[in-house]
Amino acid sequence: MRRILVTGGAGFIGSNFVRMVLSEQTDCFVVNFDKLTYAGNLENLAGFEEHANHKFIKGDICDGETVEKIIDEYKIDSIINFAAESHVDRSITEPKVFIEANVTGTLTLLEAVRDKKLERFVQISTDEVYGSLGTEGKFVEDTPLSPNSPYSASKAAADHLVKAFGHTWGVNYNITRCSNNYGQYQFPEKMIPLMINNALSDKELPIYGDGLYVRDWLYVYDHCTAIWKVLTEAPAGEIYNIGGCNEKTNMEVVKLILGRLEKPESLVKHVTDRLGHDRRYAIDASKIINDLGWKPSLSFEVGINKTIDWYLENEKWLSNVVSGDYQKYYDSMYLNR
Ligand code: NAD
Ligand code: DAU
Repeated sequence: MRRILVTGGAGFIGSNFVRMVLSEQTDCFVVNFDKLTYAGNLENLAGFEEHANHKFIKGDICDGETVEKIIDEYKIDSIINFAAESHVDRSITEPKVFIEANVTGTLTLLEAVRDKKLERFVQISTDEVYGSLGTEGKFVEDTPLSPNSPYSASKAAADHLVKAFGHTWGVNYNITRCSNNYGQYQFPEKMIPLMINNALSDKELPIYGDGLYVRDWLYVYDHCTAIWKVLTEAPAGEIYNIGGCNEKTNMEVVKLILGRLEKPESLVKHVTDRLGHDRRYAIDASKIINDLGWKPSLSFEVGINKTIDWYLENEKWLSNVVSGDYQKYYDSMYLNR
C-alpha cells in the first residue's frame, strides 16, 4: 500500500485530490496535514473524515519536527505539497506570509524528505512562475522562470529549492505547473467563486482593469488526475506543465456566469487594476499528454456549468465560508477600489 503525506489537503485543490484518491484508490493511505488557515476548511472533506485510509492532522509545514514524526509514525513513502498561501492579491498586501509558507515551508519538507530518504516529493507549483505572455505563444517546461508577483516569486523560489535538493542530495522529485483551476470547494477570493457568490447576492462583480486578461482554465478534478499520474508514473526529476487549453478573458468568464444565473451584465463594475497584473497565461501541456497519457476530461463549458450547479446546491457551505472575517476582508479589498 502507498502511504502518502498530502499537505494543504483541506484547501481547494488538496481536498479535491484527497477526495479523488480516497474514492478511486483502495491501496493508498493518506495523511492529510494542514494548518487550517483562513483558506483551509474541514467542511471540504465532509464525508471523508472517518475514512479508514485517511488521517487528518492539523499542523504547519514549517514545523520540521512534527513532519518527521508523522513520516515515522505513518511510514510515509512520498509527500505531495499543496500547502501554500495561494492568492495573488493577498501577496500584494501581505508578502511576508507567502515567503514563510511557500519558501520556508517547502524547504522544511525537503529536509525531511532528504533525511528520511522518502521515495518521492511532488511539488505543486504554478504556471505563474513563468511570468506573463503577450498575445502569442505558450509556456513550455523550459520557459525561463520570470515571476512577477510576490506569490509567484515565492513559488518560483520553492521550485528552485526542489531542484537544488534533487541536484545536491539526490532527492527524487517532480514539479507540476498548472494553470488556473476552478470547481467545487474553491474559496470565494478567487475570481470564479467570487463572481458566482456576488451574482447570487446581486452584488457588483469587480472586474480588474479592462477585463481582457487571459487565463487558461482547468477543472480541478482534471488537475488532480494529472498529479496522480505524476506521482505514480513519472520518472524522478521531471517537471510537467498541466493545462486545459481553455483560454478565456475574464469578461468572457463573467458573462458566462451571469448568463447562466440569469443576472444582468449591469452588475459588472470595472475597478482599479491589480498591481503588476499578468496579462496572459497559456500552457503547452503536450509533455504530460504524450509522456504520461494524461488528458483533461471536461471542456470549460461543461466544467463551469458543473461548478455553478455545485455552488447552487451547496448554499450552506458557501454561507459558512462567507460569514465571519470574509466580509471584513472583502471590504478591505473592494470598497473604494
Ligand atoms: P488554497 O489556498 O485553497 O489551499 C491552501 C491550503 O494550504 C489551505 O488548506 C491552508 O490551510 C494550507 N496551508 C497554508 N499554509 C500552510 C502551512 N504553513 N502548513 C500547512 N498547511 C498550510 O490553495 P489551492 O488553490 O488549493 O492551491 C493549492 C496549491 O496549488 C498551491 O500550492 C498553489 O500554489 C497551487 N496552484 C493553485 C492553482 C489554482 O488555480 N488555485 C493553480 C496552480 C497551482
Ligand atoms: O495560474 C495559476 C494561478 O491561478 C494559481 O497559481 C493561483 O494560486 C491562483 O490564485 C490563480 O491566480 P490568478 O491571479 O490568475 O487567479 P484569480 O482568481 O485571483 O484571478 C483570475 C483573474 O481574474 C486575474 O486576471 C485577476 C482577475 N480578477 C480576480 C478577482 C479575484 C478580477 O478581475 N476580479 C477579481 O475580483
